[in-house]
Amino acid sequence: MKYQLIDGKATATTIKSEISEEVQRIVAAGGKQPHLAAILVGHDGGSETYMKNKVLACEKCGFKSTLIRFDEDVTEEELLACVDKLNKDEDVDGFIVQLPLPKHIDEQKIIMAIDYRKDVDGFHPINVGRMSIGLPCFISATPLGMLTLLRHYNIPTSGKKCVILGRSNIVGKPMAQLMMQKHYGDSTVTVCHSHSKTLKEECLEADIIIAAIGRPEFLTADMVKEGAVVIDVGTTRVPDASRKSGFRLCGDVKFDEVAPKCSYITPVPGGVGPMTICSLMKNTLAASKKEYYK
Ligand code: GUN
Repeated sequence: MKYQLIDGKATATTIKSEISEEVQRIVAAGGKQPHLAAILVGHDGGSETYMKNKVLACEKCGFKSTLIRFDEDVTEEELLACVDKLNKDEDVDGFIVQLPLPKHIDEQKIIMAIDYRKDVDGFHPINVGRMSIGLPCFISATPLGMLTLLRHYNIPTSGKKCVILGRSNIVGKPMAQLMMQKHYGDSTVTVCHSHSKTLKEECLEADIIIAAIGRPEFLTADMVKEGAVVIDVGTTRVPDASRKSGFRLCGDVKFDEVAPKCSYITPVPGGVGPMTICSLMKNTLAASKKEYYK
């Protein structure tokens, strides 16, 4: 089958320039420049890259951005104090705490401390709960990015069989919620994970497969139906001596053999990744406009 590549990079660029135009109009009319802050702990390579791209995206969109760094040995109290400060800072519209956090920090406790009205990652239980019953809220950036891509490419989802591989709090679970909801995916959703016994059979029946398990090249051609839409969320770094960086990003899909069976497929890199950041920008603009919460 002649597949169509879903270009997340180009879609994100288009959306960021739309955001930038809107920000210019807002600022020209005397409104507030959106301001995103981010807390980064330690020097994890993946998190550093995400963060660099988030700061660049803020520049592209005309946002103010503030990056707050802590060493790996930061205490929970210090982080909570920083979250409290950002909650109270009237200039900051939204902020994120880059995950994962070091083992000695209770991640959930930090997320719970974020004011849900500034939780542009959509990780706070209030946003997660509101999303699950279809109320206005911040929707977690990766699922929102994937939905935006499906819409952008006019890929039908209503009534389709969607299989989600992975049940993480920030991708698998929210994506399952969104794909099943009437005004979003409106699909029939199955979630598979490491203990699923019929994962291959489920995938073979799927019209849409979302691969978000973090296992490089897990999804192979023998698991995919002819004409399926495949969205790859994986971004594992695998050693590659031929690269200057010493690694390459590897998705959860064995692209070369899966792509010929697909109607649409996302590449890694350049698929979901840029859309995640773009959704964070959308959420920050919405926070700045107080679109969901006063
Ligand atoms: N780590 C991996 N993805 C994300 C994300 O979308 N937000 C945050 N805060 N941390 C992440």
